[in-house]
Amino acid sequence: MSSGVRKKRVAILISGRGSNMVSLIEAASAPGFPAEIALVLSNRPEAGGLARAQAAGIPTCVLDHTGFADRASFDAALQAALTGADIDLVVLAGFMRILTPGFVEAWAGRMINIHPSLLPLFRGTHTHAQALAAGVRLHGCTVHFVVPELDAGPIVAQAAVPVRPGDDADSLAARVIVQEHRLYPAAFALVAGGRARLENGRVVFSSEVIAPDGALLSL
Ligand code: GRF
Repeated sequence: MSSGVRKKRVAILISGRGSNMVSLIEAASAPGFPAEIALVLSNRPEAGGLARAQAAGIPTCVLDHTGFADRASFDAALQAALTGADIDLVVLAGFMRILTPGFVEAWAGRMINIHPSLLPLFRGTHTHAQALAAGVRLHGCTVHFVVPELDAGPIVAQAAVPVRPGDDADSLAARVIVQEHRLYPAAFALVAGGRARLENGRVVFSSEVIAPDGALLSL
């Protein structure tokens, strides 16, 4: 960066195809972006996102969770990998593994996730089926700081989509993922640039990203 400020070193954690990861890698490749993707780590050796990261020239690492006796030993290895790569910020992108409270606390304010629902509605898995079962007319996605309670962290940004008559879980997922790929890079930029911060359990935004009418710029 021209300012000489060290870019934040980011690890993206994945378990699957990594489409959100790709959108984050593309965003971070822009000149002046406040962070660089230093590592992509998967808990599943077969995750399709690994090849996509390698194609983008990003170092990858596999920590196969099935080779660990328990969550604590997996998380200790994860911590060692992140420390070894000098990581400042952890970005979960389809990482389908519950993290221990100790690990999460160690990364408090420095770890974000995207969840495919308008939290606090529809935590956990099968969020699109949950939305259809509940009969909501709006659905969407949420970027939040990670806290020990699953899908419960302070919210950085959300995007909504309509639920249309005739939707099934697949058609709804396809509509939401378009917004995920737009929202996550924008929210990532805010957090990586220090313009959205976790303070006392709340997300605080820098004044330069708040428009005169109170709207958040760039989201
Ligand atoms: C996304 O819908 C994300 O919100 C959820 O898992 C999915 C991952 O998709 N946590 P991808 O691997 O980023 O394509």
